[in-house]
Amino acid sequence: MNYTETHPRKVRGGSVHQTIGEKMKEMPAKTKAKQKDRGKNISSTAPIGVSERRAVEEKYLAPDVSNFVEAHDVKNVEKRIKLWLNTGYPVHLIGPTGCGKTSLAMHVAKELGRPVVWINGDESITTTDLIGGYSQIEQESLRDQYVHNVFKSKDILKADWVDNPLALACKYGYTLVYNEFSRTKPSANNILLSVFEEKILELPTKFGEDRYIKVHPDFKAILTSNSVEYAGVHRPQDALLDRLVSIYMDYYSFDTEVNIVNAHTGLPKEDARKIVSVVRSLREKLPDAQKPGTRACIMIGQGLKGLNGQGNMNFEQLCIDVIATKTRSPMDLLEKQAFVKEAIETLA
Ligand SMILES: Nc1ncnc2c1ncn2[C@@H]1O[C@H](COP(=O)(O)OP(=O)(O)O)[C@@H](O)[C@H]1O
Ligand SMILES: [Mg+2]
Repeated sequence: MNYTETHPRKVRGGSVHQTIGEKMKEMPAKTKAKQKDRGKNISSTAPIGVSERRAVEEKYLAPDVSNFVEAHDVKNVEKRIKLWLNTGYPVHLIGPTGCGKTSLAMHVAKELGRPVVWINGDESITTTDLIGGYSQIEQESLRDQYVHNVFKSKDILKADWVDNPLALACKYGYTLVYNEFSRTKPSANNILLSVFEEKILELPTKFGEDRYIKVHPDFKAILTSNSVEYAGVHRPQDALLDRLVSIYMDYYSFDTEVNIVNAHTGLPKEDARKIVSVVRSLREKLPDAQKPGTRACIMIGQGLKGLNGQGNMNFEQLCIDVIATKTRSPMDLLEKQAFVKEAIETLA
């Protein structure tokens, strides 16, 4: 005897009383494939397709590293980072603002050849932002009348879990770049302890075997943080610091900074040298929190390019405008102006 499924119950928001066959017919091909995969255990060694990888990268906006300069001193740090990552340890890059931590972390991460996911630490980040959570609850009603006097009825509630960067990286073996991780409250970062030590990610809101994810062998993490203590930066817990290999970075050498300015602005090396000399001499005079980094060199370079080489007066103003950013008072500014003047005079 052939049974025909009938679905007499109507609910708001479109019919849910179709047979599964009918539903599948109406679905676009993409959703069909997704539906087919649902419930399948995610194998931690599942290969990732190029399109999937692109989607993840786009979603978490791993910034592009353009005009990267691989000078001798850059390569040296790069080698150390790769060594520790390949040995299985997460690497923590620590250094002053603008010395090149983020660019180097992104560059190395991309060189590893795995998809790169990215988190930017800040005060409002929670563990959920790192691992993911339930995005929505899907409700499904099924009521079948197989035989005229027999009803089968069931309501199914399904919670849709969405992975965030840490869970993605742990599951599929991506490279995680956690930029300025010390800006996040230490309690939100606790989740990293078992990832780094026991190689297990625990999803606190899940139950049963879904609660634990075995960290994929290709998972790698690069964290960055600022060595200069600003207000609002949390001191990471010792337990976490103990699990990281920390590489202290300082500003690159004079020549490397010149090459970086040249690569970013296209200015002749002679102009780049002038800029870098001024910025480096300001670094010697200003307190840690106000020291201008390589970013300041590039900004002055862009300004100079905009000026099309019109005189020294303008160059001085450019330098002042760029380094005045962390100035607290007119007196402070006057002092900086004097430093810039002095630095430019010693150039001549
Ligand atoms: N090796 C490099 N090659 C090219 N540009 C670099 C390099 N290192 C740093 N930069 C540039 O210097 C600036 C500061 O670098 P960034 O990585 O943001 O520093 P940090 O993260 O330490 O504050 C950025 O504009 C970046 O593009
Ligand atoms: Mg940075």
